[in-house]
Amino acid sequence: MSETATSILTKGLRSAHAMESQALEFMQHQAGRLEDYPELQEQVHRHLAQTERQLERLEECLDALGEDSSAIRDTLLSDLDSIGAAPKALADDEILNHTFANYAFEHYEIAAYKSLLTLCEMAIQRSIAPLLQESLAEEEAMAQWFRERISLLTRHYISQGEHAAA
Ligand SMILES: [Fe+2]
Repeated sequence: MSETATSILTKGLRSAHAMESQALEFMQHQAGRLEDYPELQEQVHRHLAQTERQLERLEECLDALGEDSSAIRDTLLSDLDSIGAAPKALADDEILNHTFANYAFEHYEIAAYKSLLTLCEMAIQRSIAPLLQESLAEEEAMAQWFRERISLLTRHYISQGEHAAA
């Protein structure tokens, strides 16, 4: 049982690495287009730095399991494409769609880390759990940040539109 759980955990860590790489790309794409939303832009930049650290943590986890993290080749996760692709196709000012996608993305990440933590227990690989816990806490904080601002961003978006139309 524990051998199977370890191999599933390893695969899961690799998938999480691909997920964070996609998150990084997604946020980099957004970061330059948020001039009208300075607070959101700052938060995206902050989370970009966290995501870089999360990628390093996943590499540390893989190394701890005897995997060669330097040989990682991230394969795109099609599930995430459906979350990230829609906003890319929309106009630059579609801030609300970006917000929905970010919110969805954070919850995908939360689910992935929770599952990895369960696998850590099942595989009796508890030493790497604190690294994953740290990333999970950051994802939860980011999701909460978006949850608290959906209404505010909606109001801001409408007022920007009214301003532009005036
Ligand atoms: Fe995240």
